[in-house]
Amino acid sequence: MKEKFYITTPIYYPSGRFHIGTAYTTVLADTIKKYKKQRGYEAYLLTGEDEHGQKIQTVAEKRGKTPQEHVDEMAEDAKKLWKLMNIEYDDFIRTTEERHTKIVQQIFDKFMETGDIYKGEYEGWYCEPCETYFTETQLKEGKCPDCGREVVKMKEEAYFFRMSKYADRLIKFYEENVEFAKPEYRKTEMINNFIKPGLEDLCVSRTTFDWGIPVLKDPKHVIYVWLDALTNYITALGYMSEDDTKFKKYWPADLQIVGKDIARFHLIYWPIFLMALDLPLPKKILVHNWIMMKDGKMSKSKGNVIYPETLIDRYGLDATRYYLLREMPESQDGIFTPEGFIERYNTNLCNDLGNLLNRTVAMCNKYFAGQVPQYNGTPNEVDKEFEEFTDSQIQKIEEKYDKYDINLALQEIWVLISRANKYIDETTPWVLAKEENKEKLESCIYHLIENLRKIGIVLKPVMSETSENILKQLGITKEEEKEWDSIKKYDTIKQAKVIEKGEPLFMRLDAKEEEEYIKGTMKQ
Ligand code: MSP
Repeated sequence: MKEKFYITTPIYYPSGRFHIGTAYTTVLADTIKKYKKQRGYEAYLLTGEDEHGQKIQTVAEKRGKTPQEHVDEMAEDAKKLWKLMNIEYDDFIRTTEERHTKIVQQIFDKFMETGDIYKGEYEGWYCEPCETYFTETQLKEGKCPDCGREVVKMKEEAYFFRMSKYADRLIKFYEENVEFAKPEYRKTEMINNFIKPGLEDLCVSRTTFDWGIPVLKDPKHVIYVWLDALTNYITALGYMSEDDTKFKKYWPADLQIVGKDIARFHLIYWPIFLMALDLPLPKKILVHNWIMMKDGKMSKSKGNVIYPETLIDRYGLDATRYYLLREMPESQDGIFTPEGFIERYNTNLCNDLGNLLNRTVAMCNKYFAGQVPQYNGTPNEVDKEFEEFTDSQIQKIEEKYDKYDINLALQEIWVLISRANKYIDETTPWVLAKEENKEKLESCIYHLIENLRKIGIVLKPVMSETSENILKQLGITKEEEKEWDSIKKYDTIKQAKVIEKGEPLFMRLDAKEEEEYIKGTMKQ
């Protein structure tokens, strides 16, 4: 039986159009899912939308829609975008669906019974026009951070979750599960910033708006966002419902991906909710940084927003996915620049990868009428060294993928590509051909094809179309020649014929023109 791998993205607020930052989380999750699938796991990817709350209600009103109409439209748009981005999700959960709301109400009731939830008073700074509470630190010069108007101190009845009760258990869990958070320092941040100063109980209900799930036994309260939102990861699997086969099969999650702004909710509140439900905790929470612009966060008012569709329409999906995944370092934010995008496209995709394929296919056609030479089993000095280098790179690539370090996996793939380009310069097949050194020439072309086959396979999770295209051009058609395990061998290709005329994978771009183009779309 296949081993399962359950992976989740955050569920997105449908408050506006998704930019490349929000798309990044989903592309990352999709890539890891595809890698796991390639490695033989039964991988299951959950994504969805977080549809309740004051903000959504306000956005809908501004658009002259009911909140339900608004979220329905946004969910369709999100699904369209994920299709365009070739995201292979297995389920799309919406928090307004009955399968979710019903269970959240039951969970709330259960917490009331166990005493984890109690009724108290919420106090904060309230902006009347925005109908929103803010904490002291959220205020901007003492005024509403959204509209800039005066705020008043207000109190309202609210339910709270007793987080404090679980603080020691959480710290113990952190200690026993060193790899729970990736990177690990995120855990230390949580301990120092939130747990050590005294973990505050979390407000889990509101009476100031009604676009939310009502508390069954006290319906003037709606369940406040985080209890509603976080539980999606289990309600989607059928937790506490009649058919809980998926829950039994997939929970606990193997990997949950979140951006740094929501690390606190996933590293503190989420494990505590699960402890209170007596459920196993996720194996790993991967916290990623943000995609920023040179002048800070992307925002419409600054005119610096990049939408995924803009890049996909003009440069293709694979180039877009490649850029997003390659540009995100683990230790700091990634910065999007039009110059950087075009540079990566021209250098990495068009020159390094595209030319390697093109030259290899052309030489195989020229010297062997397209027929891929057989592996001779006894590589010469040069080829042996090339094999050893390739083997060690393949190992590194696998390690990086296994650690979910996709940007590093891509770096290692490009080291391999560069080595292959260098190998052509070293072996000079055109000289071998002139010298009629048939044996060496056969071995050289075989090794290049073999190397590119491996590159095609390891690129699949990130760029599936390019991967297919590479294998097709090399004449690799049999399933066993495309499997991950075959990249550790040298005698896999039995009979292959490259295509007659290599098609360029990526066309060289005019840097100035394209940079201007991208900048132009940001101002629209
Ligand atoms: N609804 C909550 C999540 C609930 S999960 C139970 C939420 N939604 S969000 O739409 O605001 O953000 C969703 C994800 O997008 C978060 O992981 C966030 O970090 C990520 N990103 C938003 N802007 C981003 C960038 N500029 N760059 C990278 N990721 C970004 O929070």
